[in-house]
Amino acid sequence: MQRLNNHFNKGCIRRRISIKMLHILLSFALITVTSGENPAIQLALTDRGLQMVRHFAAGVIQDKLDEVTIPAVEGKIAGIHYTLSGMRIAKVDLPEPSVHFSPDVTGLDLSVSGLSVAVTGDWATHWGFIHDGGTFKMAVFDLFLRSVLTVNCDSGGRLSLFSVSCEADIGSVDMQFYGGASWTFQWLVQYFTDHIKERVQSNICPAVEGAIQSLEQHLQAMEVSVDVNSVVSLELPLSAPPAVDSDWVNFGLRGEFLSVETQHVPPFVAPPFSLPVPADRMVSVGVSEYTANSASFAYYDSGHLQAHINDSMVPPFCPVRLNTTSMGRYIPQLPKMFPNLLMELQVYARQIPLFSFEPDLVKLNLPSAVKAFAVQPNATLTPLFSLRVDSEFSGKMWVETGKVKSVLQMDNFSLSLDSSEIGPFKTDALGNLAKLGTNAALKKINEKLQQGFDLPQTKNAQLLNSVLSVEKGFIAFFSDANFQSTF
Ligand SMILES: *[C@@H]1O[C@H](CO)[C@@H](O)[C@H](O)[C@H]1NC(C)=O
Ligand SMILES: *[C@@H]1O[C@H](CO)[C@@H](O)[C@H](O)[C@H]1NC(C)=O
Ligand SMILES: *[C@@H]1O[C@H](CO)[C@@H](O)[C@H](O)[C@H]1NC(C)=O
Ligand SMILES: *[C@@H]1O[C@H](CO)[C@@H](O)[C@H](O)[C@H]1NC(C)=O
Repeated sequence: MQRLNNHFNKGCIRRRISIKMLHILLSFALITVTSGENPAIQLALTDRGLQMVRHFAAGVIQDKLDEVTIPAVEGKIAGIHYTLSGMRIAKVDLPEPSVHFSPDVTGLDLSVSGLSVAVTGDWATHWGFIHDGGTFKMAVFDLFLRSVLTVNCDSGGRLSLFSVSCEADIGSVDMQFYGGASWTFQWLVQYFTDHIKERVQSNICPAVEGAIQSLEQHLQAMEVSVDVNSVVSLELPLSAPPAVDSDWVNFGLRGEFLSVETQHVPPFVAPPFSLPVPADRMVSVGVSEYTANSASFAYYDSGHLQAHINDSMVPPFCPVRLNTTSMGRYIPQLPKMFPNLLMELQVYARQIPLFSFEPDLVKLNLPSAVKAFAVQPNATLTPLFSLRVDSEFSGKMWVETGKVKSVLQMDNFSLSLDSSEIGPFKTDALGNLAKLGTNAALKKINEKLQQGFDLPQTKNAQLLNSVLSVEKGFIAFFSDANFQSTF
């Protein structure tokens, strides 16, 4: 199967045209992405999640405001040159801002009203040779600010933000001057207050836009490819602009593993899937079977799905050894043709092992082969025979006490002789032995899986109330999150 060529950077651009169309489709409770490159990982933030982020961000902003330094203001009034400098925010009354998803602009609508700020600073005037100065207090009351943003993605698949509109309005400004011959100044206060009010007001939106631009620069610098290990990377660029509904935003990511070495794209495409977005969880994440299969392909394609097994890897308690004497029980002619030699097995995937996600079940089909060799005293490997081994596994996954747990079982196992340099032999007994060995390995693996893997968490963020379910074609994960500010 041929992949759409030049699939890089294409999805975002192509999908921009169909935004209107997308809105119509997205008016369903389920998100179905139907055109272009389908995202293999979907990440949705619900309104509940947005409100959590808002609450957290408001706290961070409140804390950060103490450190804000305001640039000095200079000007001339009635021939008097003035400077307001050393301005610091003394007190902020920051009401909880409001933020909503805005499907109309594919973005966010943020506003805060009733914001009051008290600022202290120094004033100085020059009028010819006459210098004067002192301190002042200024209070800005009832500031209203509304900013509407569009979220989009750039050609590199990074999130981009764009200010659609900004409104700022100040209720009133009150100023008090102290020190110097400040009585000379008092007559200017009314004029000054209006002047400052206008200056502050006209500077708020440019400041907001500046903040958006600096956030945008951070987003532009974000990595959209994560090196998982030395073999594979996980590609996470947006495959389309985020989809915005009144109750959620959905980010569709490419979600594809690539071999670091070959960079070959998988010979299959990501099918679309519909991620449910329950309103009672903050985030929903969907990982399609394509993501799992792209990992499988990357390992297979770069030659990492193979192993060499020799006798020193067989557990010491195992009565069957990997040598021609011991294998004589299963292959009678072997010890006669190659007496008392060690053996080596090359085990490899014959084809790409494929995962399929079924309701409540993860299935894995593992078509593999085994080549057996006798190790000559001079270390030369003499080929003996080749086996085809087909096995099917299924597993269940769930979240329990903050850990992802799973259990695997073998559903089917068949072994047959593919070719032989030592003549034919019956494989039934050998098949049973291999099945026993696989089951023993599975038991060890299940002990690990039973202990579970911690859900990702950082010092500042923990996942709560997490639920995981395997659906047709994807794994769905719903969770709340708890943020803690460390500022
Ligand atoms: C078996 O393979 C391992 C790893 O490749 C190697 O370290 C070891 O020496 C080998 N043992 C024998 C008996 O060849
Ligand atoms: C092969 O395994 C048997 C036990 O089944 C052991 O007695 C014998 O020494 C082994 N031979 C070699 C070459 O390791
Ligand atoms: C190693 O030994 C085998 C069997 O005795 C022989 O056929 C082969 O030619 C030898 N190889 C080398 C490189 O000596
Ligand atoms: C097991 O594999 C055999 C041979 O590939 C197949 O005929 C059979 O249907 C499989 N059984 C199950 C339960 O998948």
